[in-house]
Amino acid sequence: MSITMRDLPQHEERSLVTRETARVPSSILGRAAAWLYAVIWRYVRQTRKRVARGQKRVGALVKHRGPRPLQKVFVRAQRIGPAYGLLYGGWTLATAATTLATAATQRLADRLRTMEGDRGVLGPFLRDYSDNTVGANRRVWTAWDWSRRGEEWNQSEEWKQSLIDEVLRPYMPYQGRIIEIGPGGGRWSEALLEHARQLILVDVTERALEVCRERFGDVPTLKYVLTSGTDVPGIADADVDAVWSFDVFVHIAPRDIDEYLREIRRVLAPGGVAVIHHHGRASKKGPDGWRSPMTARLFASLAIKHGFILERQFDTWGNGFGVRRHAPPPEGEQRPPENRDLISVLRAPES
Ligand SMILES: C[S@@+](CC[C@H](N)C(=O)[O-])C[C@H]1O[C@@H](n2cnc3c(N)ncnc32)[C@H](O)[C@@H]1O
Repeated sequence: MSITMRDLPQHEERSLVTRETARVPSSILGRAAAWLYAVIWRYVRQTRKRVARGQKRVGALVKHRGPRPLQKVFVRAQRIGPAYGLLYGGWTLATAATTLATAATQRLADRLRTMEGDRGVLGPFLRDYSDNTVGANRRVWTAWDWSRRGEEWNQSEEWKQSLIDEVLRPYMPYQGRIIEIGPGGGRWSEALLEHARQLILVDVTERALEVCRERFGDVPTLKYVLTSGTDVPGIADADVDAVWSFDVFVHIAPRDIDEYLREIRRVLAPGGVAVIHHHGRASKKGPDGWRSPMTARLFASLAIKHGFILERQFDTWGNGFGVRRHAPPPEGEQRPPENRDLISVLRAPES
């Protein structure tokens, strides 16, 4: 009859574990692995004995105490073997270490993006920011349910009307040639259409242009343009008086905003104006409604780099209405603003 660890007194059992441990290199990892192997092996033997005694059905498993991931390792080791258990344990540890390391690097990258944004520099961390890409925007907005035409994003009817009265109409030249970037369901296009001599709707998804075409039809004062994500194809240099974009640049990655500003500068006539709503925070911590990292200072420095005059940056207008909150909090809930959005007014120099 063979002696198992179960039959040994406690101190001998301990020394057996130590003897096994001594066979492996004396590094900490080696010792830990040997210890884990011995513990798992002990459980496998225990189960076999209990099965042999008829205390357990074959295939049934000993119940283990301890943290859940460790219990899983024991259970699997009983089924497949101690070597499997050892590798499984190692894999679990490595996965946990990778998860922790990923979280740490993400926090670090967020901090570095914030530092770049606060200094107004499109540095490597903002330039290489991998979310809010053109492809992701095209996917999200193509799949969007446009049946409410974007009206679901209004804070209230009064809020929408105040933005039209206090921002859109004063800045967009009456009877001008206007581009709207990212019309979506046409929430602002309706007011722009009444105001403009010609309105050019530029969107990254054919779906939004289709929704607008259904809504407004093929009227001579309206033109539909599909963009590759940072250009306004088919529009000559210095050919438009104004550009309007609301709830669009908040979702565009910083390097694409940089490209877009170059393009907007190209198509704007001297003295022309661009009114652009964008995010004002580089950190991605907390809920932000899928906003891209951007700051007031970075947006200003990109605009100036492309030859604009920064006329104004603001987040409130009229009777205290503003862009700081993406959506009203649920009834009765007190919650800080979800974003720090801004509107920038850029002017192309007269000459
Ligand atoms: C949140 S919706 C806003 C729609 C509309 N401006 C509004 O306020 O209701 C974003 C819109 O911007 C468009 N969009 C996203 N990225 C774009 C890009 N790079 N160029 C042009 N349009 C873009 C989307 O397809 C979508 O129509």
